[in-house]
Amino acid sequence: MYSQGLKDAEGGQEPAGLLKAFQARIDKEEKIEPRDWMPDAYRQTLIRQMSQHAHSEIVGQLPEGNWITRAPTLKRKMILLAKVQDEAGHGLYIYSATETLGITRAEMNEQLLSGEAKYSSIFNYPTPSWADMGAVGWLVDGAAIMNQVPLCRASYGPYARSMVRICKEESFHQRQGYDIMTSLARGSAAQKKMAQDSLNRFWWPALMMFGPSDKDSTHSAQSMKWKIKRFSNDELRQKFIDATVPQAEHLGLTIPDKDLNWNEETGHYDFGEIDWQEFINVIKGNGPCEAAEVYQQKKIQS
Ligand SMILES: [Fe+2]
Ligand SMILES: [Fe+2]
Repeated sequence: MYSQGLKDAEGGQEPAGLLKAFQARIDKEEKIEPRDWMPDAYRQTLIRQMSQHAHSEIVGQLPEGNWITRAPTLKRKMILLAKVQDEAGHGLYIYSATETLGITRAEMNEQLLSGEAKYSSIFNYPTPSWADMGAVGWLVDGAAIMNQVPLCRASYGPYARSMVRICKEESFHQRQGYDIMTSLARGSAAQKKMAQDSLNRFWWPALMMFGPSDKDSTHSAQSMKWKIKRFSNDELRQKFIDATVPQAEHLGLTIPDKDLNWNEETGHYDFGEIDWQEFINVIKGNGPCEAAEVYQQKKIQS
């Protein structure tokens, strides 16, 4: 349980009156701005979350940047180039927003390079085929949209505002990925297989992007109270699955989950067990590429 919420930076108690007034502002949906008083734990939570978010935007350029020179046509190259540039912009907006909380860009960089700060585990998976550029756009940017749209209403003003443009651009990213998948799925048997293989590689890692299950999520309750988070990890994951399964069906591709079923009663898809040990291994950086291969074998052959 995340209980440091009442401790200040020196480990003392935050003044009760200020805390109460702060929470009242949040409850009234007022935005908290950089010069406003805020509990130290709120500040630290935002620094952690926003800097990890910014790092993910920057690291996310790497696998796609590698594909720019290998994109199959000039048009695909231009689209991918624009997308990678967008991701650089997202990183910069969010770094700037994070700096308003009193950490410098250099400090954040150092934390990224030393491994102290994390970034999204999804970028530790290899992207060996062009179809992966499709699956990444469709699934990874698609999952990012699910996570980021509610952040447009986050209680911290600079973070919320930076998300508005980012979400518009993410929706272009998702569509360009789906467009690649559509071309491949309608192409030759070999192209369709490329698309299916890539879906097999990225489906489960995309589901893991929403973070641990609610019962194991240490930061969620406090973040919901502070209105940094609006939906739980499991709610967002379910929304993503419900939106994405029909898209896979439209492509004629098969989601690699034998337990996936529409549930009339709940009005949602039921889905299989997520292998969280795999998630933990990837977060710890234990041979991600190797882990991904083992993971893929295990999921597809089971
Ligand atoms: Fe982005
Ligand atoms: Fe994106």
